[in-house]
Amino acid sequence: MSDTVKKFNNHFKGKSFISIDQLTSPAEIRKIFKEARRMEKIVLKRKPSKLLSGYCVAELFYQPSTRTFTSFLAAAEWLGALTIPIHGMSSYSSVVKGETIEDTVRSVHQTTAADLIVMRHPDNDSTEIAVKYSYVPIISGGAGTKEHPTQAILDLYTIEKTLGRTKNLKVVFLGDLKYGRTIKSLGKLLVLVDKKLQLFLVSPKILKMPRELVHEWQEKGVKIVETDDLQKVLPEADVLYVTRIQKEWFEKEGKLDQYEKVKHAFDINLKTLKKARKKMIIMHPLPRVGEIAYEVDNDPRAVYLPQMRAGLYTRMALMKLILLGDK
Ligand code: NCD
Repeated sequence: MSDTVKKFNNHFKGKSFISIDQLTSPAEIRKIFKEARRMEKIVLKRKPSKLLSGYCVAELFYQPSTRTFTSFLAAAEWLGALTIPIHGMSSYSSVVKGETIEDTVRSVHQTTAADLIVMRHPDNDSTEIAVKYSYVPIISGGAGTKEHPTQAILDLYTIEKTLGRTKNLKVVFLGDLKYGRTIKSLGKLLVLVDKKLQLFLVSPKILKMPRELVHEWQEKGVKIVETDDLQKVLPEADVLYVTRIQKEWFEKEGKLDQYEKVKHAFDINLKTLKKARKKMIIMHPLPRVGEIAYEVDNDPRAVYLPQMRAGLYTRMALMKLILLGDK
């Protein structure tokens, strides 16, 4: 983490949020969840808030997105902020002419008077550059293959809501652990909150979790099992977190032949889930491209559809904390 990116130390106001490494204690997560529960009431009662009236939130997305883009936009709208949502940055903005992140984030603040910028970008260091040059806080909506911190927050919120706890968990991360960014951020967050965490990392051999993260977590006392045999670890799981095999990165590296070999390596259906516990949950950040059969959607353990709604509440909470602080 560069020194331009600040740890929260229980204070969110005016700070960017681009990495789970900025969180320092479970108390900070409790604070976010408390706000999120408040936000949930605003939405469920259909009573839009004016908390962020007079504020302006811009979204700069350089990569495709459905959930993250719409939930950040809706989050700002439910709180009464002005919104400047910009999709297709890589195709339709001055980025096509070669404009840099350094200039783009400053330009968007100048042209819109935005108080906050939400950004998604394919490069790992994109959000750090944005934070360094931006006049206003940046929230990451996903950076490269490295981090997706707000997804981790909504994932943990979903775990707490459905399992009733965030501790003493046995979690299977399944699929593309090399290129996927959600499981890296969620892994970091689980390590922070759960001292008894056990992680089962299940992937094809060519898509294993980066060594640095595995070693870091092991040093912190996390029990980690790496395997390509899902059935061996599934019966123990409290959480099965499925991910998409990320074709676009194979394409970028000219390795589409390898993608073809692993693309259906861990497809899940009701038969695959036979040995899973009755009281466990199945999560997915989505989009899915066949790795969870539609027949699983009606299984009571499948939480990946309501999981998306948690993104609205937790992103409302984060925007409120960053723009207004605790008040
Ligand atoms: C993920 C992402 O963009 O990292 N989607 C999301 O934000 N919910 C996962 C993916 O693209 O596979």
